[in-house]
Amino acid sequence: MNPIQSVLITGANAGLGREAARQLALQKGIEIIYLGCRNQARAEAAKAALERETGRKIFEIVLMNISDCASVRAAVATFSAPIDAVILNAGGTGGQFPNMLTDEGVTTLFATNVLGHVVLVDKLLERQLVTSTILYAGSEAARGIPKMGMHRPDLAQGDIEEFRAIADGSKFGAKGDPMQIYGYAKLTATLWMGAMARQHPHIRFVTMSPGGTAGTAGFDDLPLIKRIIFKHMGGVLMPLFGMMHNVETGAKRYLDGLLNPEFLSGHFYASKTGYPTGPVVDQASIDAILCDITLQDNANAALRHFA
Ligand SMILES: NC(=O)c1ccc[n+]([C@@H]2O[C@H](COP(=O)([O-])OP(=O)(O)OC[C@H]3O[C@@H](n4cnc5c(N)ncnc54)[C@H](OP(=O)(O)O)[C@@H]3O)[C@@H](O)[C@H]2O)c1
Repeated sequence: MNPIQSVLITGANAGLGREAARQLALQKGIEIIYLGCRNQARAEAAKAALERETGRKIFEIVLMNISDCASVRAAVATFSAPIDAVILNAGGTGGQFPNMLTDEGVTTLFATNVLGHVVLVDKLLERQLVTSTILYAGSEAARGIPKMGMHRPDLAQGDIEEFRAIADGSKFGAKGDPMQIYGYAKLTATLWMGAMARQHPHIRFVTMSPGGTAGTAGFDDLPLIKRIIFKHMGGVLMPLFGMMHNVETGAKRYLDGLLNPEFLSGHFYASKTGYPTGPVVDQASIDAILCDITLQDNANAALRHFA
């Protein structure tokens, strides 16, 4: 019997989050799915469509803007019963103003991919509102995807100061390229997940990349040229070259990480070297920094400065 009956998904009204909600609703034993969304109208539209597609009325909307820590705290305050699992899915290249600073002093890109989720998990743990598994939507960008022009994030010292500079954007300057900064944000969150796994052994913390996934809105906010390359040309050509798969395949990876205990706490699973699709492997076999305990603790300590 699947021990997971209730799941909260952030960024659940579109793309991979919405598809994960659909697939989960069709799993035996799932009783309630909380749709964490920032916009009421988009959330209601997704809820209605999910009910229609799955024939199940098990979806509840939780309004939360992940890039706004106050909004995340307010959303957690509405929970009274524990949730079994959380999919930390909201993310992307940071909207129209990825380098704009939030009230906490981090970039919007970093807040959406990392800090909001740190606050969400901290608050859930503090109030003992999560019982089983936390899955973070990682990305192959955290160890680089050279074939897509995404360099491996280059840590200089990997100390607390450097992770703070990644969070507040000062490592990159005002004109930093969101596609590269995204890789650093995903790396920082992956390291944080590793630290959390060691600190909270009663919870599984699994980082799983959905892999290169076509048909989501993930590239919509990139500058025009990059959007044309990655979304419009890439969305057609990349699947032909095995560089992207469909949203069903991407979201299925989340379900695997969530429901299959063979995916271990503190580990990061994503595609093999060179490709953002295909079977997943433990990324520590590709890049040792992904399981470096000192880097994990430094990333975590830097996040505590802002959370
Ligand atoms: N697609 C890929 O190739 C790929 C590859 C590796 C990793 N990932 C990761 O997978 C996750 C999902 O990506 P996707 O391609 O499905 O993206 P998407 O189609 O852009 O969907 C993102 C979802 O997150 C929501 N969201 C964005 N910012 C939010 C915020 N501040 N607060 C609450 N919700 C917010 C969006 O809501 P709105 O509709 O309100 O904007 C939307 O529901 C991301 O973390 C991404 O980094 C994607």
